[in-house]
Amino acid sequence: MNLLTYNLLGIKPKSFGLEIEDSYIKVFQLKKNKSGFSMAACNLRPLKKGIIRDGQVVQAEELAKEIRELLKLSRPKPIKTKFVVFSVPETKSFIRTIQIPKMSREEAAEAVKWETEANIPVSLDKVYLDWQIIDSNEKNNNVLVVAVPKEVVDGYYQAVSLSGLITLAVEVDIIATIRSLTSKESNKEPILIADIGADKTSLAICKNQIPYFSSSIPLCGKTFTDALQKGLGIGYEKAEELKGKYGLGKMKKDDMLYNIYNPLIENLAVEIDRSISFYSESINAQEKVERIVLSGGGSLLRELADYLSLRLGKTVIVGNPEMGLGIKQNTAINIAGDLSPFSTPIGLAMRGFDYED
Ligand SMILES: Nc1ncnc2c1ncn2[C@@H]1O[C@H](COP(=O)(O)OP(=O)(O)O)[C@@H](O)[C@H]1O
Ligand SMILES: [Mg+2]
Repeated sequence: MNLLTYNLLGIKPKSFGLEIEDSYIKVFQLKKNKSGFSMAACNLRPLKKGIIRDGQVVQAEELAKEIRELLKLSRPKPIKTKFVVFSVPETKSFIRTIQIPKMSREEAAEAVKWETEANIPVSLDKVYLDWQIIDSNEKNNNVLVVAVPKEVVDGYYQAVSLSGLITLAVEVDIIATIRSLTSKESNKEPILIADIGADKTSLAICKNQIPYFSSSIPLCGKTFTDALQKGLGIGYEKAEELKGKYGLGKMKKDDMLYNIYNPLIENLAVEIDRSISFYSESINAQEKVERIVLSGGGSLLRELADYLSLRLGKTVIVGNPEMGLGIKQNTAINIAGDLSPFSTPIGLAMRGFDYED
């Protein structure tokens, strides 16, 4: 899947990032300059229901058409390059950290396979597997392993190819999100990232930009809209509009919005707490997770970060893809409205520079 041959031929392609989710596709192209990165082009496009269902492509031709359309509609100018780094959803992926004894690279590849087989519920011949040593002590190497079912990747790859693009790399969305929201300096202590998308929320705890834990929960942007629809007896469009306008409102006990949103936020808080407990009980007992970074469109729900911060007793901020790089906010925000929904495609675009330099 990794078309590194293009580098062997001496071509250093300019590329862009493409996030593909059930409800939206998003593109982001970066330019590198002296002070860091700036935006070259971006945009997003909602997908009709049924093109992708539960993280798997159902209508490849339709998806290809939507991708082509989005490239044309990118701002300030269409994206012309054919080289892409695209994402697959965390919901369909297995991200694990495992330990293997120090050994030769060939032996390690075998050991990783055995260890992974024991750690994921799918047989190895049915997944694409990638791994990387993250640190080591005298005897052992800690290895980050990512496995994604071939059936899932092939669906996306087929649609991307049909749209006329050439894939440089495929990455699990949350890994790209971590890259754009954190930096080596800002991630010496563990951080929990909650990427609140339209159809799922992915939670990850990362340190040194490596995900030591990740999972997805069904509570997501749509859950909030659904709750408003039912609670107020209004249509979907109206509910989306009100959600964007009022956010959590005052969150006072007699408030209508409080009654609608409170169970959802409580659910999110419990899941975050549970992930943090898992990290300290099973992964790293020495370090405490004190910082939570929200991202994705759902993180724009007004007052959510402050409310969660009070509830969890931790620092909660809305992540800014600027933190990890030097994007010129103003130019990008004029076009994108806000960068939070773009943290994943920005991370994918950053990955693309591995093939350029
Ligand atoms: N200002 C806002 N306030 C609350 N929710 C928002 C706001 N802007 C976008 N959203 C929600 O964010 C969700 C989309 O998030 P996004 O990260 O773009 O999705 P995905 O990556 O899953 O395609 C939608 O449910 C949308 O209603
Ligand atoms: Mg997303």
